[in-house]
Amino acid sequence: MDGKVYGKNEVTPHAVGDNEDPEPLTQKETRSTWLSRRSRLVLSTLLLALVILGLALGLGLGLGLRHHGGTPAPSATPSPEPGPIWQPRVNMSWQIILDYPLRIDDENPTIEPDVDVYDIDMFLSQNNTVIANLHKLGKKVICYFSAGSYEPWRPDAYKFLDSDLGNTLAGWANERWLNISSPSVRAIMASRIEMASKIGCDAIDPDNVDGYQNDSGLDLTATSSIQFLNFLAGLAREHNLAIGLKNSLDIIKDVLHLVQFSVNEECANYHECFAFSDFIQDNKPVFHVEYPAGAPGAISTKEQQDSCEASGAAGFSTVLKTLELTSWVEYCNGQTANTSVITTTVDDHPILPNIF
Ligand SMILES: *[C@@H]1O[C@H](CO)[C@@H](O)[C@H](O)[C@H]1NC(C)=O
Ligand SMILES: *[C@@H]1O[C@H](CO)[C@@H](O)[C@H](O)[C@H]1NC(C)=O
Ligand SMILES: *[C@@H]1O[C@H](CO)[C@@H](O)[C@H](O)[C@H]1NC(C)=O
Ligand SMILES: *[C@@H]1O[C@H](CO)[C@@H](O)[C@H](O)[C@H]1NC(C)=O
Ligand SMILES: *[C@@H]1O[C@H](CO)[C@@H](O)[C@H](O)[C@H]1NC(C)=O
Repeated sequence: MDGKVYGKNEVTPHAVGDNEDPEPLTQKETRSTWLSRRSRLVLSTLLLALVILGLALGLGLGLGLRHHGGTPAPSATPSPEPGPIWQPRVNMSWQIILDYPLRIDDENPTIEPDVDVYDIDMFLSQNNTVIANLHKLGKKVICYFSAGSYEPWRPDAYKFLDSDLGNTLAGWANERWLNISSPSVRAIMASRIEMASKIGCDAIDPDNVDGYQNDSGLDLTATSSIQFLNFLAGLAREHNLAIGLKNSLDIIKDVLHLVQFSVNEECANYHECFAFSDFIQDNKPVFHVEYPAGAPGAISTKEQQDSCEASGAAGFSTVLKTLELTSWVEYCNGQTANTSVITTTVDDHPILPNIF
């Protein structure tokens, strides 16, 4: 059920040797017996000083790298922090729900459907046991947040500067494009990634990184997006989080090496699945959503085929959903499910976009 996890050596070659056997005890004992008590004291003081110096240097280096402003740390720089990153497998099954928190019983956790991966709203999963329970059930968790749009209902919305906000997103009147090159926006996204790490997400799904395709009012270019992906992927790497590329077909070739998966909306509808098949070639899954007219519950055979058998979509992990990404889902084998969610008022319930 779990995806391949990179071996430690693949990611952090400098960490090799951590587990080397300590030198045999007998040898140590022999050596210490011929040292006078005093030289032993001097030696251990020296050793302690060296350890403290080493720690201080290491810490300083780590902090320096962390505040480096976005470019991923060069791989040649030794850093003891990075650990394994989850690499999901091609064809993994999934479900995506962004409108409400999942409802999973703490005492006797169960969930429908029994898929490998759940993509859920990060903020709605912040103050509850949802992620821990998904892990108990053997699921991997992708945490969704918007990296390129301003959503006024989020708890950190007050941090955004007016000067970083662009036009309203077409169809989502409460959201506005963000200047993804702005240091202020990037600092907020860095905090969000830190939160993802703290609450136990396995991966992040940063949305709206394709403002260059839209009338953002901010002069965003494909280059801005590539730089932003470098920034986000560098931080994800530091926090041992996998990261996906959301849509953004024009920049796939530039950022494919930085990300572990694709999250795609409607490539079948737009006849552009071939562009995303680059991920499959690279052994990375495409978590693919279509919004057929008959959803929920009345998807015709024709709609099912158009979504599931689109050219270029071989190997994609396809789900059929409504645009609001509610609990209802249908799969290409015709199975449906309606995951249990908490629809009653909760404190951190989002103000839903006005398209509802
Ligand atoms: C993909 O996964 C589904 C189950 O989700 C399975 O039925 C199918 O055989 C898999 N396809 C391949 C090519 O592994
Ligand atoms: C952005 O532009 C694309 C392509 O022009 C369009 O399909 C999409 O609906 C737009 N999205 C938003 C949120 O404006
Ligand atoms: C976006 O932010 C960058 C970096 O601060 C700045 O150079 C640029 O002028 C900003 N763009 C707009 C449209 O304000
Ligand atoms: C799915 O379940 C929710 C309650 O969790 C319910 O409100 C909704 O109507 C159901 N949707 C469908 C399509 O069955
Ligand atoms: C969720 O927890 C964060 C701290 O982790 C807190 O700032 C926020 O107010 C909490 N939200 C709710 C709705 O309890």
